[in-house]
Amino acid sequence: MKSLLLSILLSRLALPCYSAVQRNDRPIIGVLAQDVKYPQPNQTSYIASSYVKYLESAGARVVPIMINQTLEEYKALFNSINGIFFPGGSANITSSGYQRSAKAFYEMAIEANDKGDYFPVWGTCLGYEQLTLLTSGKKLLTLTDTRGVALPLNFTDEARNSKMFGGFPAELMDALASEPLTDNAHKWSVALSTHNTNEELKNFYKVLSTNTDGTVEFVSTVEAYQYPIYGVQWHPEKNAFEWTVPYTSHSRLGIKTTFYMAEFFVSEARKNTHRFELEEVESQALIYNYTPEDTRVANGATTPQRNTFILDPEMCNVS
Ligand SMILES: *[C@@H]1O[C@H](CO)[C@@H](O)[C@H](O)[C@H]1NC(C)=O
Ligand SMILES: *[C@@H]1O[C@H](CO)[C@@H](O)[C@H](O)[C@H]1NC(C)=O
Ligand SMILES: *[C@@H]1O[C@H](CO)[C@@H](O)[C@H](O)[C@H]1NC(C)=O
Ligand SMILES: *[C@@H]1O[C@H](CO)[C@@H](O)[C@H](O)[C@H]1NC(C)=O
Repeated sequence: MKSLLLSILLSRLALPCYSAVQRNDRPIIGVLAQDVKYPQPNQTSYIASSYVKYLESAGARVVPIMINQTLEEYKALFNSINGIFFPGGSANITSSGYQRSAKAFYEMAIEANDKGDYFPVWGTCLGYEQLTLLTSGKKLLTLTDTRGVALPLNFTDEARNSKMFGGFPAELMDALASEPLTDNAHKWSVALSTHNTNEELKNFYKVLSTNTDGTVEFVSTVEAYQYPIYGVQWHPEKNAFEWTVPYTSHSRLGIKTTFYMAEFFVSEARKNTHRFELEEVESQALIYNYTPEDTRVANGATTPQRNTFILDPEMCNVS
């Protein structure tokens, strides 16, 4: 425990200096809901609870970002939260409620950061694919044989001094590089060759790791050069919080991966000072207003055997 705290402290020292008054110890992160495949009355979108637990485990609270809200509503939320998280799933990244809210928050985040308002953005799996589309304006994906496999990360030279991995203990970096700790559950990937030949992607994102399906080398972890924007094609939340498939590593270092990745993003959100003007509005926005459900047999709406928040967009307007 002592060495864990020490390494977190050391990772802080490596970061640019932000004054203590600016540190927000009550970070709230928005997590995008996404369209379910087969909408039912009052069951039009969902958030897998693993993402919520993941962020909560590092000291954040979560606000669900409902699909199909107005831009005004998204703007009000943006000004109340400290970071935005695009989870994995199977929503359509060119046209869906998920795509629409992701685009709104991405654009507000770019604008805010350009004005010196530090606002972090994270994309996991589908969320990373969505980020590449938002950044490049194009869908630049390649089919890969990666629908269910755990892999070690092939770190680039940039990884060790990156914002994301710079504060990770050596033991964990070594394990990530040599053991299959990262869960891949995607059929689409950004080929490294695509990344390197697309000016928008190449100039915007620094590649921190790659992987291969044996044929295609693809990008597996990125951080933006100029913005606090991060993407992973793999699933850091699954090690600790998902038990759906046999290949997910639940080993000690697998769980540490979940924790360190969550701690990194939440520490980014601590640098933002947005807040809800009224406690009452904050209270109504938090995920605590919803009860997760066991969706093992729920209408084929989500992946089986998950613990999921089924969200009804109407509910967030109840006052
Ligand atoms: C949908 O939600 C409304 C408002 O909460 C409720 O009155 C209605 O019974 C719900 N419908 C179904 C099918 O659950
Ligand atoms: C996403 O939506 C667009 C527009 O409706 C459609 O053309 C495309 O086929 C959809 N993509 C997938 C993967 O379903
Ligand atoms: C949300 O918006 C998308 C895209 O405009 C639309 O296809 C979908 O039916 C909407 N969903 C709900 C629940 O209103
Ligand atoms: C790791 O990435 C490098 C650089 O792209 C590549 O040359 C190498 O073959 C990769 N190694 C593995 C094991 O995938």
